[in-house]
Amino acid sequence: MVNYAWVVIFAVFSLFPTSTIAQQVAAAAYAPTSSACSSDAVLVRSAGTTHQSLSAQEAAYIATRKSKVLPGAWASYLSNVKASAKARHITLPNYVSDILAERDHDKLPTLGIATSGGGYRAAIFGAGVMNTFDSRNKTSVLSGTGGLLQTTSYLAGLSGGAWLVGSLIQANFPRFFELIFGPETTTPTSLNAFGGWNAQISLLQPSNNASVEDAFLVSLIEEVAGKAEAGFPVTIADVWARALSRHFANGTTATNFFDLNVIHGAGLTLSGIANLPTFVEHQIPFPIILADTISKFEDKSLSVDVVGNTVPLTNPIYEFNPFESGSFDPMLSAFTPTKFLGSHNGTCVSGFDQISFIEGISSNLFNSFNVTPDSLALSSVGPIIAALNATFPQSNLELDAGLVPNPFMGMAPKTFIDSNQTLLAMVDGGEDGEVDPLQPLLVKARGVDVILAIDAPADTEENFTNGSSILATAQRVALFPSTYSFPPIPSSPNTFVSHNLVKQPTFFGCNSDTKAPLVIYIANGGAPLGQTPLTNIPTAQDAYNNSQIQGMLNQIFDIATQGIPIHPDVKDPEWPVCLICGVVDRARERAGIKRSGSCESCLQRYCWS
Ligand SMILES: *[C@@H]1O[C@H](CO)[C@@H](O)[C@H](O)[C@H]1NC(C)=O
Ligand SMILES: *[C@@H]1O[C@H](CO)[C@@H](O)[C@H](O)[C@H]1NC(C)=O
Ligand SMILES: *[C@@H]1O[C@H](CO)[C@@H](O)[C@H](O)[C@H]1NC(C)=O
Ligand SMILES: *[C@@H]1O[C@H](CO)[C@@H](O)[C@H](O)[C@H]1NC(C)=O
Ligand SMILES: *[C@@H]1O[C@H](CO)[C@@H](O)[C@H](O)[C@H]1NC(C)=O
Ligand SMILES: *[C@@H]1O[C@H](CO)[C@@H](O)[C@H](O)[C@H]1NC(C)=O
Ligand SMILES: *[C@@H]1O[C@H](CO)[C@@H](O)[C@H](O)[C@H]1NC(C)=O
Ligand SMILES: *[C@@H]1O[C@H](CO)[C@@H](O)[C@H](O)[C@H]1NC(C)=O
Ligand SMILES: *[C@@H]1O[C@H](CO)[C@@H](O)[C@H](O)[C@H]1NC(C)=O
Repeated sequence: MVNYAWVVIFAVFSLFPTSTIAQQVAAAAYAPTSSACSSDAVLVRSAGTTHQSLSAQEAAYIATRKSKVLPGAWASYLSNVKASAKARHITLPNYVSDILAERDHDKLPTLGIATSGGGYRAAIFGAGVMNTFDSRNKTSVLSGTGGLLQTTSYLAGLSGGAWLVGSLIQANFPRFFELIFGPETTTPTSLNAFGGWNAQISLLQPSNNASVEDAFLVSLIEEVAGKAEAGFPVTIADVWARALSRHFANGTTATNFFDLNVIHGAGLTLSGIANLPTFVEHQIPFPIILADTISKFEDKSLSVDVVGNTVPLTNPIYEFNPFESGSFDPMLSAFTPTKFLGSHNGTCVSGFDQISFIEGISSNLFNSFNVTPDSLALSSVGPIIAALNATFPQSNLELDAGLVPNPFMGMAPKTFIDSNQTLLAMVDGGEDGEVDPLQPLLVKARGVDVILAIDAPADTEENFTNGSSILATAQRVALFPSTYSFPPIPSSPNTFVSHNLVKQPTFFGCNSDTKAPLVIYIANGGAPLGQTPLTNIPTAQDAYNNSQIQGMLNQIFDIATQGIPIHPDVKDPEWPVCLICGVVDRARERAGIKRSGSCESCLQRYCWS
């Protein structure tokens, strides 16, 4: 389950708070502010149990995207597929074009993408797969896969996938190569421009000069001081957030990385994304980031049957989107406005929903070191936690989790395990074993009928995926049968591996319960086309040079365009056609059309039965 862990051992460093002005500015920008709630502030929305509802803002976003943006996106994707099919003398059945030309947008497919955890490896894998589907990349268009990304309604990420989704949306949805490597123009237009992932610089150990390294860690702690002074709990997740901000938020380049006069993305919020041009114009899929919680009252006997998972499948899963944060799980089914996250006891808080903090709690694995207080103290983050504890004395707090004032106190006392807790203790979204964030895409009110599941945890000894994360999803869905549906999948990782379901794209749910979405599964399960593997990097590697990433991206392009190879080193020329056949299949069924032609043979080959 551990999809990100530090193996580096930090030297214990001593803390001499000598705040520079810049750290004070960053600390102030990172600090939430409180004020009396206005009389019309609604801090909790119940989403209902039998017929769940979306927030009015999400519903409006999706409706406008579907009516104004997606018809053009489907037409453009279809024409890319047709051009590539024509070049390969393959005919697409007419019904595919008919469905995608529908004016009634309820008849079009509703697509969601889920991109998994697994540290930098998973972030790179997800970016590489999405690049293959991006209409802005000519190579992808010529391959007949480009354009599918633009048709997506939802984009969910957790942990490494949350770094990808979070950085992408807050940077106003640049192309993936720019996202990772930074903008092509060398002069950033503003201090708060996006400078790329700076992946060559390690997340928590950016310098091998001990004095630079110590100063860096001290500055991370100083940057959370404003939040502590404002009366909020600060934990390792906040320090982690400030480190992640230098990679997965605007405001940091390789050149200004150690510059203490730069605020490094402090103050950028998830709710603030709603003001960015691509969001205002409904150009991007609706983004969702996931986290799990640990709770004093959880049922530990109900952890998923996979070694090492710490969070029982019955704990609520929380989602964070630009409008709302909360859970659709039936034991809670409630939300709070994301811009008011952190509010408590009649005080309205803003600025708590920092994008780096949301990325940080989604990838907070530090509680997994906390088997005993000693093991936590001896772990790589022990010194940081000790320094936090010494700097900001806070009693009885879970310093290894991300703490959020509980917006749902008093709700559902019979079913919600944290109903009487003042704080929610948030941890990595993959700690329940569901490392691919499929759950929010299964919410019936969202009407997602096809999911592209990008899955890249390191499950096997070779650090490839073995299907265990979607197995955990299937197990969890079985616990909540009236809320969620999931298609049948193999019952063990051995089948995923031995039938190559992790090595080539596989469709689940073609011939079953159409209440469940059809899942198009693209996993990091082996090198494509007889190549030497480049994508199975251990999760703990927290720095990558550009040539390593470039090599991985090239290979991921082959993984996502090979289909089921027709010879060991020859891609399936029909793959782009088979993919579009899978994408429209639920819509086809709704329209009462029979599968035919190349779609019929494609689905026979690509569906697991
Ligand atoms: C498009 O994707 C290909 C394959 O990964 C890559 O080589 C190329 O650099 C990308 N182009 C742009 C403009 O991002
Ligand atoms: C981040 O930077 C990009 C480009 O550098 C810009 O378009 C975007 O608006 C910035 N995002 C925020 C939240 O300031
Ligand atoms: C480490 O960094 C400090 C501060 O920048 C510098 O004075 C010192 O010379 C560096 N030490 C080494 C061994 O490079
Ligand atoms: C809110 O009020 C409750 C009950 O008085 C108290 O226990 C709790 O600490 C308060 N929460 C915050 C975040 O101040
Ligand atoms: C924090 O410090 C207090 C008092 O010094 C101590 O009791 C507690 O165990 C410490 N907590 C952690 C997680 O180190
Ligand atoms: C808090 O809630 C838990 C779980 O529902 C329950 O076991 C516990 O008794 C409650 N504690 C109090 C003080 O109400
Ligand atoms: C599959 O992955 C899980 C989770 O990483 C691991 O616990 C399990 O041993 C693996 N099983 C097989 C058969 O590889
Ligand atoms: C897989 O990752 C582990 C650490 O998590 C590492 O020890 C091992 O060498 C890696 N295997 C390969 C084939 O890279
Ligand atoms: C980049 O990283 C790879 C893998 O760790 C390594 O083999 C290679 O030498 C590095 N290249 C540069 C230019 O540092």
